[in-house]
Formats: sequence, C-alpha cells, structure tokens
Amino acid sequence: MDDWGALYARRMQSMIPSDIREKMKLLDQAQIIHLGGGLPDPDIFPYDPLAEASARLWADRSRARTALQYAPSEGYFPLRTWIAGYMTRRGVACEADNILITNGSQQGLDFLGKLLLSPGDKAAVEVPSFIGALRAFDAYEPKYLGLPEDSADWDMHALAGAKFCYVGPDFRNPTGTCLSRKDRIGLLDLADDTGMAILEDGCYEQLRYEGEDIPSIAALAVQRYGGIERSPVLHTGTFSKTIAPSLRVGWIAGPRDVIRRLTLIKQASDLATSALNQMLLLDVVQDHLEASIDTARSVYRERCGSMLDAMERFMPRGVSWTRPQGGLYVWAELPDGMDGRALASRALLERSVSIISGAAFYPAGAINVAPKTNTFRLSFSMIPAPTAREGIERLGNLILEG
Ligand SMILES: Cc1ncc(COP(=O)(O)O)c(C=O)c1O
Repeated sequence: MDDWGALYARRMQSMIPSDIREKMKLLDQAQIIHLGGGLPDPDIFPYDPLAEASARLWADRSRARTALQYAPSEGYFPLRTWIAGYMTRRGVACEADNILITNGSQQGLDFLGKLLLSPGDKAAVEVPSFIGALRAFDAYEPKYLGLPEDSADWDMHALAGAKFCYVGPDFRNPTGTCLSRKDRIGLLDLADDTGMAILEDGCYEQLRYEGEDIPSIAALAVQRYGGIERSPVLHTGTFSKTIAPSLRVGWIAGPRDVIRRLTLIKQASDLATSALNQMLLLDVVQDHLEASIDTARSVYRERCGSMLDAMERFMPRGVSWTRPQGGLYVWAELPDGMDGRALASRALLERSVSIISGAAFYPAGAINVAPKTNTFRLSFSMIPAPTAREGIERLGNLILEG
C-alpha cells in the first residue's frame, strides 16, 4: 500500500497526538523534572489489599471461573450494586441499572460522544477542558462551543442547540478550580432552558484537601427532578485516582434507558470490562476505599502546598496562578505577550523541566473562544517538595530571562 492516508476515515483528520502522552515518553529520562503530567503517585497504590484480594480470588475456584470469563457488558453486577450504593451515599440515589462499568472514565467519555454526537452537532465544553475529553469528542466531529469560565457570561442563546455541556466541576483538569454550588445550579437552569444534557466528569471529586464538599451536579439534579430517571446529567466516575489507574475501571451513572443505550455501545466496542479487574476492585473498595482516599489526600495536600510555596517564592511578578483546594493541577498565566508553548519547549530543552502548554486544553476551532496561549499547566502529584522547589525555581528564572 503506497498511500494509507487516502484510506483513512475523515475523523482521523481531527485525531491529533496529545501533548501529554508525548511528554510521558520522556518519563524515564532521569534528569528531567516533570512538572506537567498528572499521573497518580505509585507510592500510594494499595499493594497489600490488592495482593490479598487476588490471593482470595484464586483460592476460590468458583470465583476464579467468573473472573476469567467474559463479564456482562453492563459490568459485574455486585460492583454495579456497590457503585450505586456509593453514588446514593453521595446524594445520587440510584440502583445497579443506573450504572454502566467502563474501561476507565476515558471510555465513558468516548461512549457519551458516540451516544450524543453526529458530525456537525454542537457540543459545549468548559474552556480550558480536559484534553482526553476533547480528543474523545473530536472523533465524532462536533462543532465546539466554549462555556465561559465566568458564569456571568453564560448565555442560553449562545448555547442553543448544543447536545451537551461537558464540565469537571471539582478541581478541574487543567485549572484545579471548582464550580460553585450556585454555578452548578446555574448549569442545571441552562440545561432546562436549552434542552441539553450535562456531562459531569467526577474524576477528582474525592480529592479535596481543603474547604467544604459541594454536591455534584448529578446530586443537585436528583434533588431538583425527584430522582435520577428525569435527570439531564450523565456522571462519569473512576477509581483511577483513588485506587489505581491500570485496573481501568470507571463508570457512567444516569437514567436507566440511557444506560441501556450505552450498553449497546459497550457491547459493540469491547464486549465488557475485565471481570478479573472488576472483582479485585470490588474486594478492595469494600474495605479500603476510605483509607486509600485518606492516603491520597494527605500526600497530595502536602505536595500541593509545597508547589504553591515554591510558586510564591520563585515566580516573577506578572505571573498568576490558581490555588487549588484539591485535585492534581495548578494553572498558570504568563504576562500578556508571552507564549506558553514557547516556554514549554524552552523549559524542556534549556532547563530540563517539563510543563504542558495551556493552548492544548482548548477545543480546536471552537466557534466562540480563542485559546489563551499565555498559559501552562503544572501538576504536583508526583513531585516531592525539594523537586518542586528546584523545578519551579528553574522555570521562574527562565520566565524572568524572557
Ligand atoms: C478530568 C479527567 N477525566 C477523566 C480522566 C480519565 O481517567 P480514567 O480513564 O483513568 O478513569 C482523567 C485522567 O487523567 C481526567 O483527568
């Protein structure tokens, strides 16, 4: 074949490599300080509980048979039941039929794009937005509308015709900021007025280090509509940041008719998520989720604090940044005229510091927003205090030199 390019489907034109995945290829280069990526810290994975769960499973031939068999496409029923209980405790009263297990919440985002978008449909996304969500939606060729950061600028006419609005209301990737309770309610009002769905990405909702929990939009919708069945919210969840990402277990919670449709997509896509991983995960979350969350919170809280301290100390005047109360990210804005992409490449080449330029987090060709090119994202998840200090000092000096 001389020209594979001539055979590729049109959607491949919009599928571009992610800056972050490219940078992850550099992870093994010891001299580089990685301030950009947001991988969970492997030091906090629950190794012993997983080993014990695994030993229990192999010792019981009947459970082992289930673990090595295809799982139902909807997911392993006891895990769906457990997740429904967990969602109910978080204010989203629901049952196993309201839950579809996915291969991480990334697969959930892909399925939601597949469920709701035909080429040319309008999709509203917060700006800046999680790159993985944008890349998943890109494949369905939407026209993007940016949901402005300031809710005073939200306008139902501007969002008219959007199929959905995608938001990560807790410690959003990439900015680390939260939607206030008032704005969550405002978004439900917008959904009411426009008829769009809300896709709520709950990836970081358990990682709060300071301040009061805010109910999820899914929980506020259940209150407003008297139950999940009439809710316009489809909520994605994951165990990647609280247990371990390699198990690839996430979920979508929503009205049961929608979950039934999504199950058809799951079936066609990969039949089912690994039964083995779902069973191990269920065993671990039943007894250890709270402890894992506590460990994650205390490690990341401290790292967040040391990165913010280093920013105070070494960032030159004119640079501003967010002060997250949870999650894994800090978002910074350079003085006007400076470019985040140029800074990212110079930081890597000249100072061996890796950061992610902010422009990558904006949807391509959005109708109503231009990327803020003077921005970059940092993550503190894997960075102990002395490394954060060293990396931020190098970065601050580079910015100062201009
Ligand atoms: C906001 C957000 N949503 C979803 C995901 C996907 O995570 P997973 O597929 O591991 O559940 C990530 C991963 O970093 C994320 O940052």
